[in-house]
Amino acid sequence: MTFKKHGLILFLLVLLSACGDSTVNTLQTDEPIIIKFPHVVAPGTPNGQTASRFEQLVEARFPGRVDVEVYPSGQLMTDDDSLEALAFGEIQMIAVSLSKFDRLTRAFQIFDLPFLFSNIAAVEHFQASDEGKSLLTALVDSGFLGLAFWHNGMKHFGAHIPLRLPNDAEGLRFRIMESDVLQAQMESIGGNPQKMAYGEVYQALQTGAIDAQENTWSNIYSSKFHEVQPYFMLSNHGYVGYFVAVNEQFWKSLPNDIRFGLEEIMVEVTEWGNARSIAMNDDSKEKLLATGRSEIVILTDQELEQWRMAVQPVWEQFSDEIGADLIEAAQISSN
Ligand code: LMR
Repeated sequence: MTFKKHGLILFLLVLLSACGDSTVNTLQTDEPIIIKFPHVVAPGTPNGQTASRFEQLVEARFPGRVDVEVYPSGQLMTDDDSLEALAFGEIQMIAVSLSKFDRLTRAFQIFDLPFLFSNIAAVEHFQASDEGKSLLTALVDSGFLGLAFWHNGMKHFGAHIPLRLPNDAEGLRFRIMESDVLQAQMESIGGNPQKMAYGEVYQALQTGAIDAQENTWSNIYSSKFHEVQPYFMLSNHGYVGYFVAVNEQFWKSLPNDIRFGLEEIMVEVTEWGNARSIAMNDDSKEKLLATGRSEIVILTDQELEQWRMAVQPVWEQFSDEIGADLIEAAQISSN
């Protein structure tokens, strides 16, 4: 999506947040309150399973009063379109990758810094800190109310050749999410980054339009990237997680008992999903290996250290935008 469209979203968000409750469902009828909740990944992934659990628990607690409609696998719209739809009140909830917001806020760029977080526990520790929790309100001025962070997992590279050292990536066309930090990450190792919607990646790999990509095992396996990519590198070089948000005007218009109940359920499913995300990704990795279609290349500590050194300049490049204090807080979480 061009900056023009993002600029339009930003303008619309400001306009809508100023126009009060005109985007809100009329909640005084006997009709159930509809919560449309699209996402782009498969139902079996951490995001997919946690969204489904939210749907089940809400409808069990508020039968006939609240109807949660989860639309997985990009059935309803792409992540980019869901940001605009949330602003208009066409949908009521999203769980979009933190890497896809940097046209609306630069606040989430920290989650894209390569090798900043050593594992999910480090991310979890940072997100639970005062600095991390403050990021949930990063988009309030745009009418998005952050409810939670959901984990997917750590990212790994995949390519048509084994990538043992940064030089192996020279000139390769890497699909990335729409993130300037990820663009800088790939450029720092001589790659040619291609911003692309998640749903287009399989065909781009199959046709040779791109040579490589990065994602979590659950996304790689559920999207069958192993069918069109012979090598994966156990790099753990980055994090995929989600900003779970609602249209603030919609949320404020809910009856108090429903809003409080939804907040309680959100806490419960967030704990449930985040506690299972590592196992879900490990399961996907084992299933990928069992297909025999791809090889997972284990990098030595020395090889990984060369990747870390090659992408280190990206931290400095974005330090002013992200804030050195936030980066320091994240590094402390990783120790
Ligand atoms: C991607 O676009 O690769 C990810 O955002 C997919 C996901 O996990 O939402």
